[in-house]
Amino acid sequence: MYADLLRRLVDDYELGGASTTVLAGFESYPADALIGLRLLGSVHRLVLSGRAPELAAFYPSVGGEWDAVLGWEAFEQVLAARGPELRSLLTQAPQTNEVGRSIALYGGLLRLAESVPLPVRLFEIGASGGLNLRADQYRYNLADGTGYGPADSPVVLEGAWSGRELTPAALRIAERVGSDIAPVNPLSEEGALTLTSYVWPDMTARLKRLRGALEVVRKVPADVRREDALSFLRNVELAEGHVTVVWHSVMWQYLSPEEQAAGDELIAALGAGATPTAPLARLCLEPMRRTPEAEPEFLIALQVWPGGVRRILGRADPHGLPAYWE
Ligand SMILES: C[S@@+](CC[C@H](N)C(=O)[O-])C[C@H]1O[C@@H](n2cnc3c(N)ncnc32)[C@H](O)[C@@H]1O
Repeated sequence: MYADLLRRLVDDYELGGASTTVLAGFESYPADALIGLRLLGSVHRLVLSGRAPELAAFYPSVGGEWDAVLGWEAFEQVLAARGPELRSLLTQAPQTNEVGRSIALYGGLLRLAESVPLPVRLFEIGASGGLNLRADQYRYNLADGTGYGPADSPVVLEGAWSGRELTPAALRIAERVGSDIAPVNPLSEEGALTLTSYVWPDMTARLKRLRGALEVVRKVPADVRREDALSFLRNVELAEGHVTVVWHSVMWQYLSPEEQAAGDELIAALGAGATPTAPLARLCLEPMRRTPEAEPEFLIALQVWPGGVRRILGRADPHGLPAYWE
């Protein structure tokens, strides 16, 4: 759907159509500002909030069905009619929180529990809406018919993972704290709309799990602060009788090399004070290379202190689902 729309948008822009007026002034934005996706997300926001009824029939996220010809005509009408509104939305950077990545956190915590069976204090950097801080509240179904997590969860991740068998454990999450430079409040209508608008409208499985997670957040609180990752890490402390887990997914690339080095140092310094009864773990799902020459993959890595031994636990899709445990 978005491939269709983007192709037509390019043609429209080159021919001086409705998109030219909407995008005027945004031409100087760098490529990584993803203006195309901002525009698609902004239009999706109007559709989701009922402000572009002419498009609803073509958007699967609100029950419609995409049609490349009629859908584009309706899209063009929205561009022409809603220019000022769209232009104000375009200044907002896309913001996502992918619930599927909870697989890496949940499975990683199960692997950690095999050697460190303590209650978990969860600290996430780049938490966005904090949806993955509720990873223990989601259901993970495997292709062989087995499953992990609460069977009545509104979030069901099908075909969650394969590979090495994970030992089921009742995870006890004692604290859920996150930081983000641009956190989204999933409890607010605006925040929920923001997170939903950047999911592509025809990715119905992603939308379903996001909507399920928006239900879970009403019952299971988490504290997500507007704070840069480094200043947040500076204030994380270890606690006796708990394993403190620093978790991050698809956020490390947004830190400069200097910030990454400082983040690594802060975590290692915290780890230096870890003991068997107050251990530290760093768990992540990030694009990484196994060796300097290897292609980047989305790898799940776990490092545990005392000791600081780091292991690659598996790999996953960029959106988490499915994962493979090695
Ligand atoms: C691609 S999103 C991933 C969000 C979430 N971790 C997930 O997997 O769904 C990257 C997140 O990192 C946040 N971020 C970027 N730079 C950051 C920083 N220096 N400190 C904290 N958060 C940051 C962004 O605001 C965004 O929410």
